[in-house]
Amino acid sequence: MLPAGAAVGHAITTIESIGQTEAGRRVQRAWLDLEVVQCGYCQAGQIMAATALLQKIAAPTDQDIDRGMSGNICRCGTYRRIREAIKHAAKLTSTPKKGG
Ligand code: FES
Repeated sequence: MLPAGAAVGHAITTIESIGQTEAGRRVQRAWLDLEVVQCGYCQAGQIMAATALLQKIAAPTDQDIDRGMSGNICRCGTYRRIREAIKHAAKLTSTPKKGG
């Protein structure tokens, strides 16, 4: 997290466009494969953080996942499925972008 002013002049990827990134597509696929979502309230942030984590660390350990996902609270307690989905996403091969 950072103040909006710190983003001036930088490209911003939102949850709406996360599927346009290679890691984002793998995370979306893994989330669906493992049925991660419960109520969905926290999931935009969880998916953004998971994508950022996989863009930095190709095969994250449990400790990497704990560190990378800290600050994202899930009131439904989907943490175990999130951890499994991140590991699943790390093993998925890239899928083509929709429409291209
Ligand atoms: S899925 Fe409900 S808060 Fe995370």
